Amino acid sequence: MPPELACFEARCRARFPITEAIYNCPRCGGLLEAVYGAPEHPAAELKTLWRNRRTSNAPLDQSGVWRYRELIPFLDDHRRVVTLREGNTPLLEGPQAAQYGGLDRLTFKHQGFNPTGSFKDNGMTCGVAQALRLGKTRVACVSTGNTSASMAAYASAAGLQPVIFIPHGNIAYGKLAQALEYGARTLQVEANFDQILALVRELAERLGIYLLNSINPFRIEGQKTIMAEMLDQRDWRVPDWVVLPGGNLGNTSAFGKGLREMKDLGLIGRLPRLAVIQAEGSSPFYELWRAREGTQLSAVAHPQTLATAIKIGDPVSWPKALYEVKVSGGVVEKVSEQEIADAKAVIGRCGIGCEPASAATLAGIRKLTAAGVMTDDADVLAVLTGNVLKDPDYIYRYHTGMLEAPDGTRILSNLGNRPEVVSNDAKRIAKLIGG
Ligand code: F0G
Repeated sequence: MPPELACFEARCRARFPITEAIYNCPRCGGLLEAVYGAPEHPAAELKTLWRNRRTSNAPLDQSGVWRYRELIPFLDDHRRVVTLREGNTPLLEGPQAAQYGGLDRLTFKHQGFNPTGSFKDNGMTCGVAQALRLGKTRVACVSTGNTSASMAAYASAAGLQPVIFIPHGNIAYGKLAQALEYGARTLQVEANFDQILALVRELAERLGIYLLNSINPFRIEGQKTIMAEMLDQRDWRVPDWVVLPGGNLGNTSAFGKGLREMKDLGLIGRLPRLAVIQAEGSSPFYELWRAREGTQLSAVAHPQTLATAIKIGDPVSWPKALYEVKVSGGVVEKVSEQEIADAKAVIGRCGIGCEPASAATLAGIRKLTAAGVMTDDADVLAVLTGNVLKDPDYIYRYHTGMLEAPDGTRILSNLGNRPEVVSNDAKRIAKLIGG
């Protein structure tokens, strides 16, 4: 079966050629996904093939995305793929974080080690490859920051013009700085993420620009490989839980799809449970989940959180994400600004560090173990989605007691670490630091 785009809606499942530049089903408006026939190689052979590619110097094999290309066979020609050697992100043990989260052991998969510092790179190399294949010259996205940084880098590396739309004053400086440095045409719009997404979809259509938001099914394909690489690194031992932050819910959709497909291919015998964590002021998916029989997401009109990466009130991929959480026997949890801030400082103290949205994982784990949903001996893998340097302003404010939640309440600097100003005086400094 050749690769195709299929409508995700069970009652529709309409199919379209893989080369159509569409983002929703033209028949019913549902989300789209890439579908394929089975790969030629049996599971055991695939595992060996992928392991052997780690020693190869070929750019495609060095990519932590394209190394697993049998799982994402939407291209007929890989020669024009642009890779910045995305993926290849480590599994890190965080003993202090495990203790804080109420677990015996906790492993982080740190997507902040990607070339532009977030998991978006896994998807972007695929999205840009598809843009090139379609002969597009311009690509666009709306972003809370990381998608724009990633798209700017990959589009520029591929010789495409990146046009990014960001909510004015609402993204972390590190991310805006990256977009500028990577040469994106950058439009700061006086609106929130959800409003700008509607605007950009209209503009993309009108101007023939290829849209690279996570609604783009090829980005989802790339993000699937985060789970493949994680399992490869664990010699295919399936964790009990995979914990991740939820914003627009593209990553939840990608992880779920990837895991299901790997199970169908016999690469793994069971699915890990997905735990999606949202920020309290921006938690429409949590509310939908809590409604149990809920089948329609109610958007949050004015989402609020200092974890700006996940400040999204109307996540587009919720139908896919809801399906994946259900199929995996997973859960959705929400956490407060204070919980995110403290969890982030704990991850920092492990010598690991991450951006605020990523820390929602540990805050969520702490809540889930306290509630008995997760047991202390569970094998838990948390995905840290972004690099610690994405949002240095947040860090400085937290450690110096100046961080304020969106409603104006002061975030307590529970694990604060204030810098001290000292005079140029060896004696005094020696006295101060002792020893
Ligand atoms: N963590 C980080 C660091 C992010 O940048 C994002 C999303 C998420 C988590 C949530 O992932 O949307 O797949 O549920 N950032 C997008 C952006 C929206 O524009 O960079 P999701």
